[in-house]
Amino acid sequence: MELQLRGITKRFPGVLANDSVDLTARSGEILGLLGENGAGKTTLMNILYGLYTADEGQIIIDGQERHFEGPGDAIEAGIGMVHQHFMLVPVFTVTENVVLGVEPTNFAGIMDMKEAAREVHEISSKYGLEVDPEAITEDIPVGIQQRVEIIKVLFREAEFLVFDEPTAVLTPQEVEEFFGIIRGLRDAGKAIIFITHKLKEVLKISDRIAVLRDGKVVGHTTPAETTQEALAEMMVGRPVDLLVAKDVASPKEVVLRVDDVFVTDTRDQITVKGLSLEVKAGEIVGIAGIQGNGQTELVEMLTGMRPAASGAVYLNGEDVTDEGPRGIHSRGVAHIPEDRQRRGLVMNFTITENIVLNTYYDPPYSKGIVMDWDAAAAAAAKLVELFDVRTPSISIPANSLSGGNQQKVIVAREFSRDVKLIIAAQPTRGLDVGSIEYIHGRIVRARDAGVAILIVSTELDEVMALSDRLLVMFDGKIVADLDPTQVSATDVGLYMAGATP
Ligand SMILES: Nc1ncnc2c1ncn2[C@@H]1O[C@H](COP(=O)(O)OP(=O)(O)OP(=O)(O)O)[C@@H](O)[C@H]1O
Ligand SMILES: [Mg+2]
Repeated sequence: MELQLRGITKRFPGVLANDSVDLTARSGEILGLLGENGAGKTTLMNILYGLYTADEGQIIIDGQERHFEGPGDAIEAGIGMVHQHFMLVPVFTVTENVVLGVEPTNFAGIMDMKEAAREVHEISSKYGLEVDPEAITEDIPVGIQQRVEIIKVLFREAEFLVFDEPTAVLTPQEVEEFFGIIRGLRDAGKAIIFITHKLKEVLKISDRIAVLRDGKVVGHTTPAETTQEALAEMMVGRPVDLLVAKDVASPKEVVLRVDDVFVTDTRDQITVKGLSLEVKAGEIVGIAGIQGNGQTELVEMLTGMRPAASGAVYLNGEDVTDEGPRGIHSRGVAHIPEDRQRRGLVMNFTITENIVLNTYYDPPYSKGIVMDWDAAAAAAAKLVELFDVRTPSISIPANSLSGGNQQKVIVAREFSRDVKLIIAAQPTRGLDVGSIEYIHGRIVRARDAGVAILIVSTELDEVMALSDRLLVMFDGKIVADLDPTQVSATDVGLYMAGATP
């Protein structure tokens, strides 16, 4: 089967999101779709999925033009989509999520969950998508939730599968498993469109690659014909430094000290189990680890959003254990949270409002009891420029921004204050190579200006490149304290898995 997008154009107020895009996807092929933040990838896929209507252009399947009034029509035409942000109902079981909206019924018209569970099982064994059909969705890891999304799409008999940044939330092991799954789908004759910012991945998995910039297709290539450097330049229109440029750190006094801390998670399980660490002024400490080893709870505790069950946290020698988010914040701690839509932004607030979200009560924005919106707007305009947030205006809501541009707003806000400590979880998740280069540069500059920096990331390449000192977290504890220039990624991977090289 063949899917053609022809001359697709889509405008939003002030933005030409897609500009006469031509793109073809074929059965038995993985098409890698690349492009900088705001290039129009998600918009294009939303048009294909019937969520948006194109202003111009055609969708043609096997030579026949199709019109989609909504996702129902697209699904009927064989299109399936795994979204950038998952759309599962957390309290439903896996099976309930899979069948949501298309529940099979028995002869009396009553929903037949047994039959549904059987079908889920059949799809999952056919494509190697192991899941427990009875599990409650919020209890399973992100990588498995993604399988549920895939099963959901296959349950609706999709022939064209769109994945919007599927690996952004996966651990390296999960990425390998995911690649195995999509290769299997391709070999079973499905057409795959795979959106990513990770050049290594696109080179590894794609049969063909298309690149979007400013809403236009700027090139087609194949992994055999190109390199990471060439792809980066094609995406952003200039050469990009893919390595982190930095001198050796000169650490000073201890800024953050964590002493034998225990933290419990939302379900009262102890996930941080007697963890101690130090971060000094002028150094970047990275924490590598497989998701689910207590990193989330550690960061929430350090930023005051979750209490410590025992142990203590000191900032510049003062005990700040359990001070709460506003207390920690006012002591000069910046936080880039891992979940940008839940913790980092208020999605229906404007960019300006999000920029002053945690400082509006301080000067220069607050003048006694009145808010100085001109000062806030001026600050927002400056940051949008500096951090290259692609937006027609600072007064649009955060949910109109592309995923990567939402992340840039958070990073811009957190880097624009005078802080002593930056705690960043997955700071470059969803960002394009050009933005990553800029933000890595900002992190190194902050370090050189004497800020203490703690980076928690499942992205091993990134923490290894950025950190001056690399800690590995496993099962709630720090199990290794390494010099990233002296250790191999393989050895770090072993520590991450709880083994020793
Ligand atoms: N619902 C919307 N309302 C207004 N503007 C929008 C809307 N959705 C997207 N845009 C704009 O369209 C442009 C393309 O956005 P899109 O989300 O398609 O980018 P993307 O290539 O997916 O980027 P990213 O890599 O950051 O996810 C952006 O400028 C964005 O601000
Ligand atoms: Mg997107």
